[in-house]
Amino acid sequence: MVGLVKAPFIPSPKEVVREAIEFSRVSPSDVFYDLGAGDGRVVFEAAKRGAYCVAVEINPYLVEVIREKARVLGLNDRVRVVEASFYDVYLGDATVVYIYLYRSVIEKLVDKFERELRIGARIVSLDFSIPNWIPVRVRRLLDRRGIVRTLYLYIVGFSNPCSLKRRVCVFDYNRLLKNMGL
Ligand SMILES: C[S@@+](CC[C@H](N)C(=O)[O-])C[C@H]1O[C@@H](n2cnc3c(N)ncnc32)[C@H](O)[C@@H]1O
Repeated sequence: MVGLVKAPFIPSPKEVVREAIEFSRVSPSDVFYDLGAGDGRVVFEAAKRGAYCVAVEINPYLVEVIREKARVLGLNDRVRVVEASFYDVYLGDATVVYIYLYRSVIEKLVDKFERELRIGARIVSLDFSIPNWIPVRVRRLLDRRGIVRTLYLYIVGFSNPCSLKRRVCVFDYNRLLKNMGL
């Protein structure tokens, strides 16, 4: 429950969620994770774009909210809800990871990202950058209350300078960046 204190439930504004999904080019070929999924608004937006989604949430009340919403929206087959700490969930099949977490929490997840995420996986972070990683794309927008929000997009193996070892493997970054419109 320590995680709850460190990352309370503050939902991403809906207009920002729509932009984040667009910004990271989520498509039906993606496996989309939201680490700390809150009420599920982000995974539902990704599922509407055809992605297979995994909502990881530690708060049992929010887990029930997501399950109920998935049932009502008829998205049970596209959204898996995992009641667990995101530190304990293996991310090996993720192609996109969404995070809206304090920097102190992101710092603790970086090693896990380096270890488990495959080359080419995207990470979208709202408002908090990943320390020492280089975003391939940054987008600033105003939410409906007029507050400036920032989306950061990272690509594993490309954005993380410490993973030069992993970059040795053959991976066509140019093609990926082109597909992403970058
Ligand atoms: C800032 S909210 C973001 C909610 C959602 N991703 C969004 O953008 O609307 C952070 C969420 O992370 C959850 N959380 C905190 N620590 C966690 C942990 N260790 N494992 C899983 N979820 C956690 C909280 O319960 C909360 O719902």
